[in-house]
Amino acid sequence: MDKEEPKFTSEECILKFPENFYWGTATAAFQIEGHPEEYLAKLSDWSQWIDREDKVLRPTNNGRAVNHYEHVIEDVNLIRGLNSNCYRFSFNWARIHKAPGEFDENALHFYETLLNELDQKNLTIEKRKTKIEPFATLIHFVLPSWLSDKGGWENPQTAYEFENFTKKLLERFGKRIKFWITHNEPNIFLGFGYESGIWPPGKENDWTAYFKAYQGLLLGHQLAYKAIKEFNSSYQVGFAQNLYYYEAQKDEDMVPNVVRSQLHNYAFIDACKTMSCLDFLGVNYYTRFSYKLNPEAMDPTRKDLKSDLWGELQDMAQIAPGVKKNNLGWELYAEGLFRVLTEKKMRDILDGIPVYITENGYCHIENNESFDLKGRINSTQDQASEDIDDKYRIQFIKEHLVAVHKLIEAGVDVKGYFYWSLLDNFEWALGMKPRFGLIHVDHKSFKRSPKASYDFYAKVSKNNGLFLTKKSPIVTES
Ligand code: FCB
Repeated sequence: MDKEEPKFTSEECILKFPENFYWGTATAAFQIEGHPEEYLAKLSDWSQWIDREDKVLRPTNNGRAVNHYEHVIEDVNLIRGLNSNCYRFSFNWARIHKAPGEFDENALHFYETLLNELDQKNLTIEKRKTKIEPFATLIHFVLPSWLSDKGGWENPQTAYEFENFTKKLLERFGKRIKFWITHNEPNIFLGFGYESGIWPPGKENDWTAYFKAYQGLLLGHQLAYKAIKEFNSSYQVGFAQNLYYYEAQKDEDMVPNVVRSQLHNYAFIDACKTMSCLDFLGVNYYTRFSYKLNPEAMDPTRKDLKSDLWGELQDMAQIAPGVKKNNLGWELYAEGLFRVLTEKKMRDILDGIPVYITENGYCHIENNESFDLKGRINSTQDQASEDIDDKYRIQFIKEHLVAVHKLIEAGVDVKGYFYWSLLDNFEWALGMKPRFGLIHVDHKSFKRSPKASYDFYAKVSKNNGLFLTKKSPIVTES
């Protein structure tokens, strides 16, 4: 890290972060890599799902995502340009592990290239810059088809194959990766795959399957955790949990919010803690939710309702004045990050376990097209212009970093922050339209163009802190 102290005027101050704080970005294999083989040979559940027009918004770029596979060297240079000292990526299980005991050398080699670039292995030791610490996610939602076709996580075999996959990665890359994230967001995977059915395996309100898959995910985590700790007991192993800040508006609304928060936020963390399989918690934070008790949903004969739970999601804009949202309609609520991690129950569960903010990001849709989650967008326009000067993303990052700083001051051991995402990418059921990146990517030429937020975040990482004006703690951009 550059030791030079930042200069600021008397009107400015800097929120300094602890020494050795990790600053980075996060990505996931299926959302960026775009290796044609995966899509054409239908190697994964998502390369099948992407063809379903009723489930995935067009355009999808036919599985090419943003072609990180062929741009890996350029992309690591861009990571270095951010002054990052870490990078979170995920392995592509489907391309690596083709069948029981069968691992693909070329697919493994890709990650060797990535790790070499992060380490600058091709340079002499004197020429190497700050090490970019890899944080590796073993699975970021996507399952190999040969496992999803046999019940995916509902089938315990998947957990044992996950263990085999982990051992293979350890054998190959174990000496080079110290931070391991087993699952990404088991709660989102379960909710979208088994409650709303908008993601594979597309089951709706299937609670029997939900809890089978839940157990499979937990067994997978336990087996992978043990394998990594046996390889090197000093390695840090956790998982990334999506946390929503749930807020009941009235006393009568408490039940649906508490149930959601138990199921979504706490259950998997608590289970891993109980099994002594959690060295750190990865937190992916995006928004606040508030459920309203829906008396009709309490009627057991109403089989037509979308969810078996009693709550109905409320639009915060109709409750709280001045609510800010992104183009996807997600409320921007930085305070929720502070609140969800300082709830008494969360503090009790974590009990000193360190936290990494493994995802947090702002999304924009080009040309400010309004976006209806149920609707379809026909325009395929792809212009960089408006999105490049992304003042709202800068504002979003500032507000969330203020919340992270407040957490640290409140005694929560937050050790790092990963912005989601390095690049614009494939956003699951929402296709290619939502753009979360610090770097704009043209979907046809794959040209990368850093946005204003890229420069902003590079400064934050370099200074290990955030400039603010003294008068107002948050500089308003608009
Ligand atoms: C998270 C996912 C990530 C990305 C962001 C926007 O839930 O982990 O892959 O889609 O949301």
